[in-house]
Amino acid sequence: MKTSEVKTYYDNFGKKQDWQGFYENKAINTLIENSDFQKAKSIFEFGFGTGKFAKDLFEKYFSDDCKYIGIDLSETMFAIASERLKPFKESAKVQISDGSTNLEFPDNHFDRFVSNYVLDILSDEEISKIFSEAKRILFRDGLFSLTSLACGEGFISKQVSNIWESVHKIKPTLVGGCRPLDLIDFVDEKDWEIKHHFKINSFGITSEVLVLRNP
Ligand SMILES: C[S@@+](CC[C@H](N)C(=O)[O-])C[C@H]1O[C@@H](n2cnc3c(N)ncnc32)[C@H](O)[C@@H]1O
Repeated sequence: MKTSEVKTYYDNFGKKQDWQGFYENKAINTLIENSDFQKAKSIFEFGFGTGKFAKDLFEKYFSDDCKYIGIDLSETMFAIASERLKPFKESAKVQISDGSTNLEFPDNHFDRFVSNYVLDILSDEEISKIFSEAKRILFRDGLFSLTSLACGEGFISKQVSNIWESVHKIKPTLVGGCRPLDLIDFVDEKDWEIKHHFKINSFGITSEVLVLRNP
């Protein structure tokens, strides 16, 4: 999907994004358990959606001096997340982006880079760019924590991901522009230490959780 189509889709989808929790929550909770957010001081989120993830982290995990910045290309998502994160406005900043994978932050700026169910919307080239930008803007020892839709393992999950992929090829808007992929294939082990890697099934839908350390 073109960036303009992704923007239109998520501008219309808005709060319905939270309903995807039925298959996303298990993977996102696994990411949280393995990303040591209690120790984080500066967090960047790519594609914050409704801001639910950031709000949960502020309520349960972030320390008082932790700063958060998120970007998203959807104006609707920006409005929802801004409202949701109002109680944390001293520490949380959300911005609208133009969808570019060139991130306008200095080198060595964050100790966490998080993105949930966004890279599966991007082209392979854009995903590679996000990996190199994450390496650039993370401090040494910073964590790059990702969840995405993944290729199924096991009979039922394989069928589900094959059907999903076919639908994505015919009409990507029916599946929010997301397609199953294996993020692990984008990891260059010269650049990253793989700290955690899981495949998680929820209602037949497979997700990948990847936590990488910038060595
Ligand atoms: C499937 S939703 C996931 C939202 C949220 N991270 C979650 O897990 O609920 C994808 C989000 O990424 C945003 N997005 C998609 N492509 C983007 C891009 N190139 N740059 C910034 N945000 C993007 C969409 O607007 C949408 O809010």
